[in-house]
Amino acid sequence: MSISDSPSSPTGPLTAESAVPESTASAAGSKASVKAPANIAFIKYWGARDLRRALPSNPSISMTLRECVSHTTVEHLPRTDRDEILLAGADGSLAPAPEGFAARASAHLGEIRRSLGAGGGFRVATRNSFPSSAGMASSASGFAALAVAATRALGASLSDRRLSILARASGSGSAARSVLGGYVEWPRAMAAGEDESDAFALAPADHWDLRDVVAVVETEPKEVSSRDGHRLAATSPYFARRQELLPARLEQVRRAIEERDFDALGPVIEEEAVDLHLIAMSSRPPIFYWSPATLAVLAELRRLRREGIAAWATMDAGANVHVITRPEDEEAVAQRLAGVPGVSRLIRDGVGPGPELGAAHLF
Ligand code: PMV
Repeated sequence: MSISDSPSSPTGPLTAESAVPESTASAAGSKASVKAPANIAFIKYWGARDLRRALPSNPSISMTLRECVSHTTVEHLPRTDRDEILLAGADGSLAPAPEGFAARASAHLGEIRRSLGAGGGFRVATRNSFPSSAGMASSASGFAALAVAATRALGASLSDRRLSILARASGSGSAARSVLGGYVEWPRAMAAGEDESDAFALAPADHWDLRDVVAVVETEPKEVSSRDGHRLAATSPYFARRQELLPARLEQVRRAIEERDFDALGPVIEEEAVDLHLIAMSSRPPIFYWSPATLAVLAELRRLRREGIAAWATMDAGANVHVITRPEDEEAVAQRLAGVPGVSRLIRDGVGPGPELGAAHLF
């Protein structure tokens, strides 16, 4: 994790556990800013044993991104019990967040207060580095940013484990992985107990320089949330078979990451992504996240591979395609994807180091 505290942020390494007493935290009234990354799952969290607590049916493995981040400032307001949630514009403007968004953020802040035994309210401003109209999932980066910045604003410096659990308490399971950099695994459950479910680092970002060229084909918000997808997953007749196949697939991905073996990683992550969508399409009622352009990108990747360029797709609960490739092939991949009908833009990203404290304050 890469951290550099700004002068006005509480200092201390994020990995050291030092929750401060409530009175000190409440009196601090301090402000913290963070840039927390999105992540792309190689093995997907799809289906939950307990959706409210985001306890997954299966382990997942992801790569933390570098460029797609949520930039968030949190100020603790000891003398109020209300939260104010703002969206920050690129021009520095601040506007009240839409009601649903504000309610979800405030519920997450409530979990953070409860966990640290803190009172008061928070003023929050947040913005994403990637356009919200790009249809990219932003809950992982958004809630990871909230967990990191709010605990810092309370004067607490938590371990990655506790931050991961707090990020997960938002209800967005993938946020549990975004508090860490590099390659990350989130197990099905911890031996210590269900509520302790947290993610851990498999390898740091500098272990393996992989790139993610995102072919944006969808600019509208998706019709079915990932929350509904998780809820319906077990209604698919193929869900039980997926659980049987996953242990071997997880092991292949762990080994491919450890050995930096792209020829082993590529096919398994594409197979896994198709599997998620197979479960979605066969859920009752069925969910179709793909668009014709999704299939056009997949066809272009098959052509590229026949020409000797290694590039493999993975798709979350949406139509956009994350194309994972090596640095030497990134340019060729981007050029070809730009020409696929239906691709409105490309986002060039890669593996990143995790949340960075010391970002500029947004207010
Ligand atoms: O974190 P949630 O509840 O939004 O679910 C994430 C679901 C996927 O993005 C499709 C898969 C994953 O593991 O990130």
